[in-house]
Amino acid sequence: MNRILHSQSQHNLQSRDGWDCAREHRRRVMAMLLDNASPSKRLCVLGAGNCNDIELPELADAYREVVLVDLDGDAMLRGVEKQFSGASSPQRTAKIKTVVGDLTGISELLSQAVDAPQDVDSIVAAIEDRLQQPPDALRTERFDTVASVCLLSQLVHSVTETIGAHAQLLSIVQAVRQQHLHLLRHLMQPGGRGILITDFVSSLTAPQLPHVPSDQMPQYVRQLLNQQNFFTGLNPAVLAHQMQTDSQFADGLQRLQSTSPWIWDFGPRQYAVCGFQFDTRRDAPPDASPQPPQRNNDV
Ligand SMILES: C[S@@+](CC[C@H](N)C(=O)[O-])C[C@H]1O[C@@H](n2cnc3c(N)ncnc32)[C@H](O)[C@@H]1O
Repeated sequence: MNRILHSQSQHNLQSRDGWDCAREHRRRVMAMLLDNASPSKRLCVLGAGNCNDIELPELADAYREVVLVDLDGDAMLRGVEKQFSGASSPQRTAKIKTVVGDLTGISELLSQAVDAPQDVDSIVAAIEDRLQQPPDALRTERFDTVASVCLLSQLVHSVTETIGAHAQLLSIVQAVRQQHLHLLRHLMQPGGRGILITDFVSSLTAPQLPHVPSDQMPQYVRQLLNQQNFFTGLNPAVLAHQMQTDSQFADGLQRLQSTSPWIWDFGPRQYAVCGFQFDTRRDAPPDASPQPPQRNNDV
């Protein structure tokens, strides 16, 4: 087991019982996942983990098939078993598939960078090369709806916790972010919907966060962003700008919307979360061919 999988699975074990406190967050996530659902469509959820932010029986009723993807297969199995432990019908359960995979393709290299610090420069160069390609998982799949649920912050966290001191850190964070946007776009059918939900700051650095009423969240978040108080690489304004200007992502999109921020109560801490929703045109080319990431210095 590499260091990234080990760290993520520890994190998932610690947060496995977070179902109750995630209720309001789950309601917001589910509203986005169900908005455009239909029994003829397939949904893909990236970063499903413990599945504490999705209601699997409801998704099984709303979609023809639900594909959950995560590095941590055990967390997904636990999440699925927990939600289908009652008298759920086998037809519903059969609609849920799990795919275990690394959604960056760099987890093994990040792990090596910690184990072989003397080789870190060459490993970082290999990471930069790898991020110019999509991950291997789901290469040939396309979905009607593709959702990334609080995964991007963990993809970036894996980078900062392993090569956080390296001079190329910011450039690699930007490349991870761009690869993830391209992956979402790549997995969408023409006429499909993409959803990116991401946490971008926590109550560890924003202690007022749990006490902010929902109608004051946009104003509070603006203040945090002005104070540069957000996770590296996850400023929602920069994400929105990248979605509008990165041609590999934006070509073929007919609509891009963002939500007001909300709070994810994680138990030991709270996160501010925002969502983006985008649709591809029906006549959009089915695939965006991989191109080297373009660098953007505004992290
Ligand atoms: C914060 S959790 C998302 C919350 C989750 N949907 C839930 O409700 O429990 C982030 C997830 O990203 C997964 N993850 C982290 N790095 C990954 C990678 N490189 N590839 C695929 N999944 C990854 C973790 O295993 C974890 O399950």
